[in-house]
Amino acid sequence: MKYTSIKGMSDIMPPASAAWRKLENTALTVFGSYGYKEVRTPMLEKTELFIRSIGSDTAVVEKEMYSFKDQSDDMLSLRPEGTASTVRAYIESGAYQAEAVAKYIYIGPMFRRERPQKGRYRQFHQIGVEALGIASPLIDAEQIAMCDHFFKELGLKDYSIEINSLGCKECRPGYNKIFGDFLTSKKVHLCGDCLRRIEKNPLRALDCKNPACIEAMKDAPLIGEYLCGDCKAHMSEVQKYLKELGTKFVVNQRIVRGLDYYVRTAFEFITTKLGSQNAFGAGGRYDGLVKELGGPDVSGVGFALGVERILLLMEEGGLQLKEKEALVFFALMGEPARERLVPIIDKLRQDGVYVELDYDNHSLKSQMRRADKLFAHTVVIIGDEEIKKGVAIVRNMHTKEQEEVKFDDLVRHFVRVD
Ligand code: HAM
Repeated sequence: MKYTSIKGMSDIMPPASAAWRKLENTALTVFGSYGYKEVRTPMLEKTELFIRSIGSDTAVVEKEMYSFKDQSDDMLSLRPEGTASTVRAYIESGAYQAEAVAKYIYIGPMFRRERPQKGRYRQFHQIGVEALGIASPLIDAEQIAMCDHFFKELGLKDYSIEINSLGCKECRPGYNKIFGDFLTSKKVHLCGDCLRRIEKNPLRALDCKNPACIEAMKDAPLIGEYLCGDCKAHMSEVQKYLKELGTKFVVNQRIVRGLDYYVRTAFEFITTKLGSQNAFGAGGRYDGLVKELGGPDVSGVGFALGVERILLLMEEGGLQLKEKEALVFFALMGEPARERLVPIIDKLRQDGVYVELDYDNHSLKSQMRRADKLFAHTVVIIGDEEIKKGVAIVRNMHTKEQEEVKFDDLVRHFVRVD
């Protein structure tokens, strides 16, 4: 008997695993610099958690979860996404009591029993972030801009950022009614799924891929006109901040999202390179979810990126991730420099700074070449002249700016106190 992995679930073998690791590390570094700290939650949760947060009428909850009763008759599910678990962990840990704002990042497998195809799997991986406790539209814009920055870092080019406002509990019901009436007037053209949606969740019909439904929905009333004053103001602030951050976006009022917890901002990162699996990341605001799950009444904004889809895009573009470890390269010229600096280098390494040095007295030119090859972000240059003055030349390899730092201040210069 030869065993194979379960349909839609893959092994990640070397050398591919190295690309995964690099992508994850880059995400941790880029998102880390915006204050996101890693959380790891269990892969299994009580089914009820997902029903309450994602919504009982969603495709994810209705048909895609891997659920089972365990030996104690508890109904459990493999997590189909990370927001619900992260919010549960935030509430359960009481993190909100210590700090009003929490920013989390998680990386790991999610499970949805979808029909597998290119870019769509039953076990897939997400890099997700959640910012809890921030009401300002600045955080919506900052997250979108942060993603854009991350994709640029990966070398991705052919994508667009689409944003929308889904309204709130004040204005969405009114729009739902108008949109529901519109759908009713188009009943004869709609597929079975959309007919069911009229009653339960009309908005989702906007997402239908059926050509007849797309045609029928061409002149559908769109939500923008029906937003309440607060939602309109929020949406225009998000756009204002995005412009200030220099992030290009388009407003697409047909974005609806497949999970029920969203209010106001929803956004997607869209590519034309992955066939019908065109979103390689998506997210939005979910004020109300923390309270709904038994926590304080605080805001939430987050997104998740599909790791497999990003790697497919990188492969298509012939892109390879050059992982930038925070390397400081010491270009030492002459024995006095080595003698004076070796203890300082040792101290830096003990403090967790990644340091490389030249051991064999190569020319400055060849040392700089090596530093470049290793993607050092900083080179510290010390020759006889510097030894005399007791200072090192610290050169930023990105900006090419340099400054002089006293030997006694070198450790403090590089060691970040978190
Ligand atoms: P989502 O749109 O369901 O949102 O998933 C986010 C991303 O996960 C998608 O854009 C896609 O790249 C990837 N993805 C989803 N399903 C699959 C699949 N079957 N195979 C491969 N990749 C897939 C969420 O999950 C929300 N929790 C995002 C969020 C976080 N919203 C607020 N915070």
